[in-house]
Amino acid sequence: MRRLTPTSNPDLLVGAVTGDDAAVWRLDNNRALVVTADFITPVVDDPRAWGQVAAANAVSDVYAMGGKPLLALNLVGWNSSELPTDLLSEVLLGAQDIAEQAGFAIAGGHTVDDPEPKFGLAVVGEADPENLLTNAGFKVGQKLLLSKPLGVGVITTAIKNDTASTEAIQAAMESMVALNEEASQIALKFEATGATDVTGFGLLGHLGRAVEESKVGAQINTEEVLFLPETQELAEAGFVPGGSRRNLEWLDGRLDKGNCSETGVLLLADAQTSGGLLFGIDDSKAQDALDELVSSGHSASIIGSVIDEEGKIVLR
Ligand code: CO
Ligand code: CO
Repeated sequence: MRRLTPTSNPDLLVGAVTGDDAAVWRLDNNRALVVTADFITPVVDDPRAWGQVAAANAVSDVYAMGGKPLLALNLVGWNSSELPTDLLSEVLLGAQDIAEQAGFAIAGGHTVDDPEPKFGLAVVGEADPENLLTNAGFKVGQKLLLSKPLGVGVITTAIKNDTASTEAIQAAMESMVALNEEASQIALKFEATGATDVTGFGLLGHLGRAVEESKVGAQINTEEVLFLPETQELAEAGFVPGGSRRNLEWLDGRLDKGNCSETGVLLLADAQTSGGLLFGIDDSKAQDALDELVSSGHSASIIGSVIDEEGKIVLR
């Protein structure tokens, strides 16, 4: 995208240049469309569960902009000579489960032949153009809240190597199928303006992009960041997705690692699928926002704060 001439139109409120979760198009003063597409390779063996994860992951980009999903189209890559169509039906049913829970419609889609299966959704949602959550909206002095624990990258890597325990798989699954709908509503209620969901670039990668776009920095209190069970052990045993190291390389000189161990830093960059929302809330309201997240079932925490050091992330 960087090599394309950026599209500029007064109604394109959020486009590609800020690396945001979705594009936002103004329809009128009170309504905007939120448009996104996301698809993934299988992360778990159960096809229905994979459909659920892929759908929750795709729709999350609408929530990350402060929007609500309206309708979606299935995006399918399928190896039809090797995989039965019954399995594909299960994947689509998984997406349907999420659509029903979130209250949006799946209204069609497209399938191509693909040696490696892929599944996801193109989603159209709506948002209030005056109340968007963007990468560029984080402000100095705010507290940073994260609505889900990290570690699904490590656990899904261990699943591919048949070394994840049932407990770890269960915890990762529950986390990945959980919608970011309520977290998004809580962020808006407590007047967040900056947010992103934590997916492939990991916490550090997504935060790195957000502080760049917001022209601020971030301090993370590493002991406040929550992890799924067994994440530490699995990471120490080497089950680290390749993406996590690339996420750290991308941050280059902008990360102050403090006294954080190498594994600790890698875990903060762990590439997530269907991760939580990361958003900034004014200091005075941050605890109330956290209380609402926790009482609505989120494993959330205040992981740090927004500081006045443009583009930098400091670990403490
Ligand atoms: Co996203
Ligand atoms: Co995405």
